[in-house]
Amino acid sequence: MAQRERWGSRIGLILAMAGNAVGLGNFLRFPTQAAQNGGGIFMIPYMISLLLIAIPLMWVEWGIGRYGGVRGHGTTPAIFGLLWKNPIARYVGILGLFVPFVVSCYYVYIESWTLGYAFFALTGKLPKISAEVAASSEAYLKPFKEFLLQYTGMGAEGFYRPSLAAYLFFLVTMFLNYTILIRGISGGIEKFAKVAMPVLFALAIILMMRVITLETPLGSAVQGLNFLWEPKWQELGNPKVWLAAAGQVFFTLSLGFGAIITYASYLKRNDDLTLSALTASSLNEFAEIVLGGSIAIPAAAAFFGVAAAQLIAASGAFNLAFVSLPAIFANLPAGSLLGFFWFILLFFAGITSSVAITQPVIAFLEDEFGFSRKKAVTLTMLTLFVLAHFAILLPKALDEMDFWAGTFFVVVFALCEVVIFFWAFNPSTAWREINRGGFIKLPRIFFFIMRYVTPFFLSIITGWWIFKELP
Ligand code: PHE
Repeated sequence: MAQRERWGSRIGLILAMAGNAVGLGNFLRFPTQAAQNGGGIFMIPYMISLLLIAIPLMWVEWGIGRYGGVRGHGTTPAIFGLLWKNPIARYVGILGLFVPFVVSCYYVYIESWTLGYAFFALTGKLPKISAEVAASSEAYLKPFKEFLLQYTGMGAEGFYRPSLAAYLFFLVTMFLNYTILIRGISGGIEKFAKVAMPVLFALAIILMMRVITLETPLGSAVQGLNFLWEPKWQELGNPKVWLAAAGQVFFTLSLGFGAIITYASYLKRNDDLTLSALTASSLNEFAEIVLGGSIAIPAAAAFFGVAAAQLIAASGAFNLAFVSLPAIFANLPAGSLLGFFWFILLFFAGITSSVAITQPVIAFLEDEFGFSRKKAVTLTMLTLFVLAHFAILLPKALDEMDFWAGTFFVVVFALCEVVIFFWAFNPSTAWREINRGGFIKLPRIFFFIMRYVTPFFLSIITGWWIFKELP
């Protein structure tokens, strides 16, 4: 068996894992989901899901990944086969390839918009608006909405007709992903994350500080923050909010996608797992709750008032990111620079995640078929390029993919993971596996949570989806 690649350093590993998790989900999906689910109501199930499902699952995924990697396998078809001596195991594991690949088909495309918009912002190609605020937020946002429709071609009848620019930036984005992936784990992904992640955090902090002080006669950023943070306990009984919160926690932490497992498969046998996983997750939550929560919604609240901000966010992540924020920046001093920061921030968040969703399939070809890296990356990227056209051209494809792969199957797959590791395999070996080499010893209570509580909640969520929500 050929020697598998390894991460170069602990800090590099943590930044790569944080890059995997911190993505468009933090800055676009989170504010949208929060707004659609009532703000302060949302954060309660969010926190509970984080503690009882996501963090335990994070350790489980790192544990499964390291266990497999040490034995030469970085993806779940083979690793599940090692953990559970049942012929079905490998088939269940295929979900761990299918899910990330479907998500990458639309993810890379949206990521390419952020690169395009960064370029437009810098070169002053975005719509201009007069200094006086138009009568309604609708009228104010109109030119930016039209710009987005034209860019993506999503207004067309039948098939979408992306603009030439959109297609070119898509090609460039594909090429940049390829360039990182072809250099491998430590030479490509890790090296890039070590530069991109600090830049990303710096940009987000600059934008947050700028936005926080915004105030107009219509509202203030602080009102936007209050909307997110005022708990409305009476709404706690709404199952929709719980599903959305759990779904968001999965998406933002990249859980149930097989992507964390594959990254963790490049750990060494005795590398710390417990503290590193916790650190990477904390960085993601900081980027989501503190930074992601303090830019888009507060800016819109300050500019258009809280109620309008809520409506804009509820009308979708694209409206928030590509319509409302550039429109707001257009009216601020140094607006093109702020706009550029915003879209480069999104682009870095996006690309450090898209390489992570693509890596499982690459690892699969390398580990199971002995492909060279070059061959594996090229084949994967070419297939991705072809399949991405579903998202580029077909109306509704993006939503469908996001629902099935990005929302439903991740929960199902996460349930399979814990059950295979903590029931089909051996619970005490699984527990020792997670704790081996750890800088912190996990409190014993987490054994109980991983074996009973997490699978219990995941079953409830899966059951709910299947019996109540699916058409
Ligand atoms: N966590 C990423 C985000 O928040 C999305 C992602 C999912 C990336 C799965 C990799 C794997 O945008």
